[in-house]
Amino acid sequence: MTTLAAPARSVAPSATKTARYARSFAHQQRAHRVIPGGAHTYAKGDDQMPEAAPLVIARGQGCRVWDLDGHAYIEYGMGLRAVTLGHAEPRVTAVAVQAMQGGTNFTRPAAIELEAAERFLGLIEGADMVKFCKDGSNATTAAVKLARAATGRAKVAVCAHHPFLSQDDWFIGTTPTDAGIPDAIKDLTVRFPYGDAVALEVLFALHPGEIAAVVLEPVRGAEDAGPYLRDVQRRCREHGAVLVFDEMITGFRWDLRGAQHLYGVTPDLSTFGKALANGFSVSALAGRRDLMERGGLRTEQERVFLLSATHGAETHALAAAVETMRIYETEDVVETLHRQGARLREGVEQQIDALGLHEQFVVVGRDCNLVFATRDAEGQASQAFRTLFLQELLLHGILAPSFVVSAAHDNEAIDQTVEAVGKALVVYRRALESGIERFLHGRPVKPVFRKHC
Ligand SMILES: Cc1ncc(COP(=O)(O)O)c(C=O)c1O
Repeated sequence: MTTLAAPARSVAPSATKTARYARSFAHQQRAHRVIPGGAHTYAKGDDQMPEAAPLVIARGQGCRVWDLDGHAYIEYGMGLRAVTLGHAEPRVTAVAVQAMQGGTNFTRPAAIELEAAERFLGLIEGADMVKFCKDGSNATTAAVKLARAATGRAKVAVCAHHPFLSQDDWFIGTTPTDAGIPDAIKDLTVRFPYGDAVALEVLFALHPGEIAAVVLEPVRGAEDAGPYLRDVQRRCREHGAVLVFDEMITGFRWDLRGAQHLYGVTPDLSTFGKALANGFSVSALAGRRDLMERGGLRTEQERVFLLSATHGAETHALAAAVETMRIYETEDVVETLHRQGARLREGVEQQIDALGLHEQFVVVGRDCNLVFATRDAEGQASQAFRTLFLQELLLHGILAPSFVVSAAHDNEAIDQTVEAVGKALVVYRRALESGIERFLHGRPVKPVFRKHC
């Protein structure tokens, strides 16, 4: 690696930088006084972003957002991957407003509930029935409950490589942030590694006749997951466990009909959310009739209190979901996500090549859902270098905790991002050569799941 000239940089956030984000800084202080963590979602917390860039978003349009201080950014991973058509997509917004004007919540089911269910089931071929809810966690937790009721078993097996399946105790009890969760609950969740069907078999052997459900995302990377998923399905059937695919991310990214369609493996239950309504709050539990009907009014079995919430079927959110699914079907959104992701990946890889940073900066994932790994000079995963990269991108108007694109990321936005990545990687390389302390303004970002602040 040839050494680049390294201009000196101050360690503390400069006065110019503080001034750049003056309103955001003030807002941040007030938010922490009234909201634990200053945000309603940990993944959006201050500890996830560089200290010198306390972004508070005022509004969004397409693939861009504006912070409270009036700066514009091209944003990635929008709404934690929920906004796949772009912020404030006019057609989705229009149907939501129209639905709102006709009333949002009634004493009996709204007509849109059936329309949304039929549209959804028209896409997810392996599912006979669907129940909508608000958050992904509602759906995955309901899947676990249904599996427990159907099997009469208590334990649930979750994939250890999948970072987030629910905010509820059965999953959070497996993370370092497990305060407030009794051991009795934690002991009911067991874990297996992704991609190793034999390890799952060992788990079944260790807990014979005890595992109600096997819960995993069908895939996270670019590999052909079919053979593994078929193997998992076979073992679940042999051991009488319910197979649950969490398609919260894959559902409306890998394939319009879900990763289950792409890989030809139909789970017993599957869960969806995020992109389903382009950021409106709609999630779904879908699956086999004999299982789902236990939560209905036409069952001979003992009833399961499956999903029932005051706001579970808000008309505008379901209208947004119907319109989002219509746009996906008519405009091949999934193909756009893959195409624009590939353009971004190729551009970033050229920058990595030009700077010889293959060992330190790596783009991974499927083109519709790219993330990056940051490593230090010794090749170790580094939160400090991640922070530096985010910090430098922000200075060039890019907000990219990941490289997850939406259909609103046009060529111009992608090319502008690639250029900014090139500039950020130049600083990255200098920091590798002469020490990151000279370049990083403030503390590094931290993982969401940890015991202490
Ligand atoms: C794979 C997966 N499952 C479940 C969830 C939980 O969804 P929610 O945050 O909507 O409750 C998430 C959220 O990030 C997720 O990525």
